[in-house]
Amino acid sequence: MLCRRFRFRRYQLKKDSLRALNEGHPWIFRGAMSSAAEVFPDGQWLALVDGQNRPVGFGIYQAEGAVGIRVLRPGATPPDSDWLQRRLNRALERRADLRQRVEGFRALNGESDGFPGVVLDVYGRVGVLQTYCAGVDSLGRYAAALACRSLDLPGLLWKPPQRRSGPGPVRRVLRGQVPRCVAFAEEGMRLVADLEGGQKTGLFLDLRGLRRWIRNSDLTGRRVLNLFSYTGTLGLAAELAGAREVWQVDASAQALAFAGHHHVQDPARHRLVQADVFEWLKDLSQDELFDLVVVDPPALTTRADQVERVLARQARLVSRAAAHLAPGGTLVACDCTSRIPRTRFQQMLKKAVPLRHRQTLLPEEDHAPRFAEADYLKVEIYR
Ligand SMILES: C[S@@+](CC[C@H](N)C(=O)[O-])C[C@H]1O[C@@H](n2cnc3c(N)ncnc32)[C@H](O)[C@@H]1O
Repeated sequence: MLCRRFRFRRYQLKKDSLRALNEGHPWIFRGAMSSAAEVFPDGQWLALVDGQNRPVGFGIYQAEGAVGIRVLRPGATPPDSDWLQRRLNRALERRADLRQRVEGFRALNGESDGFPGVVLDVYGRVGVLQTYCAGVDSLGRYAAALACRSLDLPGLLWKPPQRRSGPGPVRRVLRGQVPRCVAFAEEGMRLVADLEGGQKTGLFLDLRGLRRWIRNSDLTGRRVLNLFSYTGTLGLAAELAGAREVWQVDASAQALAFAGHHHVQDPARHRLVQADVFEWLKDLSQDELFDLVVVDPPALTTRADQVERVLARQARLVSRAAAHLAPGGTLVACDCTSRIPRTRFQQMLKKAVPLRHRQTLLPEEDHAPRFAEADYLKVEIYR
């Protein structure tokens, strides 16, 4: 039983935190915690109690960052392996339709699936696990092993992202043989995830809806500019939609080489440019016009006090990009900064681009956010 493996220490919640817990929020923010928590080591499992010492939930202490406790299970009953298996089953059931259509999907989406700080992406027959703080490493490994069994995955890679608290665990194969890259099908497209050197778990699965949207657009004979292209999956979608020319710009030479190798069918139609997009756009000739421009920068801050500055920077970026739209052209503006709320991003775009808003692409079911802070990815389409 999972609960036997962990020793819970008691922590009494303050009123505001208790209210958040009762409302179903999966985080207790550090600012709402008492100094009693300061003695806990990073990753300590906690039994949470109310003012009358009654058990109200179970969580994991995180020593750094704005989130102080990630709630694992609300209520008086400790989490155990049966309960975790049920949670996993529910997460996989939610993806049952999606799994019929694609071989690459997010099997566990952190707090939104009830697995705090744990992400498990599946590419073909390989799972890639990410755990975002020390306290969830064992939970993540346990949940990923259960998922491998349920999904019959022979390979499992653990790829912990860099931790703010210093060097964490290193990338490790937890099960079977894991290749450097994996090809998988996504609604008729053949994509390849870079498990060895790629960003995140290897590929941006959360852009599936945008790949589909581009692929279903009629781009016959059109010119496309894909800014912050990473390994060029959007560029491939554009090529398959008939684009005559696809320019893809990214700072990472490795990502572009991977794009050229795996996501380009007709090299004559692609131009891969390694550059800092913010500088490159300033120097791009005003005569270069494109029918579709995609702007998908990385998350630009994790700090609340920098949000306004980042929005101003994004406004300059999208208005520079929009200046290269051919008449009647389409701009796709994305943002993956979780600190920036969807409405603030939309307001910024409304001011920054003199275009008609056409569509908002919402996250797909495997990335569905179940609380406000998890709603990180925005994709807005303008013409
Ligand atoms: C959110 S990812 C883009 C994902 C991509 N749209 C796709 O389809 O997979 C952000 C990308 O921006 C790149 N990047 C970060 N800073 C950059 C910069 N200043 N100029 C160009 N590329 C940058 C990263 O290498 C990364 O590939």
